[in-house]
Amino acid sequence: MRKPVIAIDGYSSTGKSSISKVIAKKLGLIHMDTGALYRGVTYFAIKECSDENEKIDLEKLFKNLNQIHLEFKKIDEELILFLNGKDISKEIRTNQVSANVSLIASQKEVRDYLMETQRSIAEKGGVIMDGRDIGTVVLPDADYKFFLTASIEERTKRRFLELKGLNIETTENEVRENLISRDKIDSERAIAPLKKAHDAILVDNSSMTKEQTINYMLSFISDI
Ligand code: C5P
Repeated sequence: MRKPVIAIDGYSSTGKSSISKVIAKKLGLIHMDTGALYRGVTYFAIKECSDENEKIDLEKLFKNLNQIHLEFKKIDEELILFLNGKDISKEIRTNQVSANVSLIASQKEVRDYLMETQRSIAEKGGVIMDGRDIGTVVLPDADYKFFLTASIEERTKRRFLELKGLNIETTENEVRENLISRDKIDSERAIAPLKKAHDAILVDNSSMTKEQTINYMLSFISDI
């Protein structure tokens, strides 16, 4: 029995990563949160490629992309993102990274650079990958594709609570504005925009709990 390849895309804070994590555990799949990779590159850009006014120098970033080594390590059943050997799992969730990540993710050089990492994981099969362009660009032949959406009110609430849990200081308004802005940039960019693949199953989980969403999605997945 072959293990499935599952692509999950959707708007920010629809629960893609936490849902993928649970489905991965249930089905014995590898989970890759591709948003974390874009956040990792953004963190590097802020740290290493910004001028004195904290403006990111894109040309410098492109020249230095080959110095970015991103790796997920499993620690206590959690996949932790390391940048050149340093745990950056908390740093990639800061407001500064969230505010810049969609600009960085809209760059062709960055997307090309991360494509290799993503595809090489999926080559072995048995993977669930979540992001914005997984079903459309990264894994167009995935066995199952889902596209998650939810109301902006619900998504704001969820992300705000998540950040609070991480002790990251923010306000509901700041979270809301960031989600709206990222969704707009992600949907309107020229390369690999956020959109539902024609063969993806649409899941609006505005009034569903995480468990209900997972069970609903699992109802579509059969052994392959
Ligand atoms: O999933 P998360 O919200 O952490 O993603 C952060 C950002 O990374 C998104 O807003 C988007 O700009 C970018 N991204 C992307 N393509 C993916 C995954 C994430 O462009 N496959």
